[in-house]
Amino acid sequence: MQVLGVCGSPRRNGNTELLLKELLRGSKDAGAQAEEILLRDLKVTPCLEIYACKKDGQCPIPDDMQTLYVKLTEVDVLVLASPIFFYTVSAHTKAFIDRCQAMWARKYLLKLPIAPGKLSRRGVFLAVGGTKGTRLFDGALLTVKYFFDALDMTLYRSLLYPSIDAKGDIIKHPTAMAEAYALGRELAQEK
Ligand SMILES: Cc1cc2nc3c(=O)[nH]c(=O)nc-3n(C[C@H](O)[C@H](O)[C@H](O)COP(=O)(O)O)c2cc1C
Repeated sequence: MQVLGVCGSPRRNGNTELLLKELLRGSKDAGAQAEEILLRDLKVTPCLEIYACKKDGQCPIPDDMQTLYVKLTEVDVLVLASPIFFYTVSAHTKAFIDRCQAMWARKYLLKLPIAPGKLSRRGVFLAVGGTKGTRLFDGALLTVKYFFDALDMTLYRSLLYPSIDAKGDIIKHPTAMAEAYALGRELAQEK
């Protein structure tokens, strides 16, 4: 099993990153290949609406997304991790999602396979937010549901933690780190 974790928090060693690292540790311990991508360290230009992807499913913008496109077609599980910023995912995460319009074009316009040979790919969403509003994660969940669909994945599970604000708050949460680790282990198993 190949598990790819993509972290969209701009904060180094922030809550989202700690949570994702713990999940990936669980996956590795259970025998999966697990890799972490920190979007803040990469150059991922926001979508420029060139629409070249409508012709061949490829995005011509020459940045780090080109490497990520390849990984996205190879993985069995994608774990997207983002803090909640203004009731949705962070800008780093959203730029990454928007660049996957190329995958959407492949799937829906060109009717091309997204991940040949992979039958059931899973998407997981990890998110933290500083407040405890009842609809804190609604916007992000809608976005990631359709993002995973474009990658030919289903949203398998979400771990969502409100009231996590200061750096390191997630470690003090009574269950979050254990839940992330356990989910990582679970993801290492075939569905
Ligand atoms: C630009 C910005 C916007 C934010 N918007 C929200 C928000 O809409 N709702 C909320 O509950 N927390 C919001 N927060 C707080 C973060 O979600 C919170 O601090 C989170 O723990 C940061 O996670 P990280 O350490 O992984 O980056 C915002 C923080 C920033 C910097």
